[in-house]
Amino acid sequence: MKAIGIDQAFISKLVETFYGRVLQHPELGPVFDARLSGRWPEHMEKMKSFWSSVAFRSGAYGGKPVQAHLGVANMVPELFPKWLALFSETLDDVAPTQEAKDWFMATAERIAKSLTLSLFYNPALDDPAKKPD
Ligand code: HEM
Repeated sequence: MKAIGIDQAFISKLVETFYGRVLQHPELGPVFDARLSGRWPEHMEKMKSFWSSVAFRSGAYGGKPVQAHLGVANMVPELFPKWLALFSETLDDVAPTQEAKDWFMATAERIAKSLTLSLFYNPALDDPAKKPD
């Protein structure tokens, strides 16, 4: 991780920059702020320990991401591509190396897919090719 420029200082900068932009985003901003109003500092600390745990396998984060998203009002699957696009733009501006960007994007895409399945999976909308007639 160090070799590709990912350290604690970079994670802090990424989290601060990304959630600053989330708040400015016309669709993501209101969804986050409705839930986190008055609790933003705690959310930022949680997200820093979350990314540290994933990057350094440090065990700093002990939360439950699926449960945390369950009661978020106005959460719709279409928000995930927007979240990922904003994360990608942020990394273009702040990532120290292309490898660092690639690592964060691959990880975020995997988690976004897994959260989308946990929150919204509906057999009726699954691949029609797999359905019996
Ligand atoms: C449209 C996409 C997303 C929305 C609207 C969203 C919204 C939120 C909100 C409102 C919270 C605060 C919950 C609370 O404390 O009450 C939260 C927490 C969190 N989110 Fe997301 N999120 C999204 C995508 C993601 C993705 C892609 C990741 C991972 C890469 C992620 C990781 C987390 C984590 C780790 C927490 C902290 C959970 C805890 O409380 O332990 N989220 N999210």
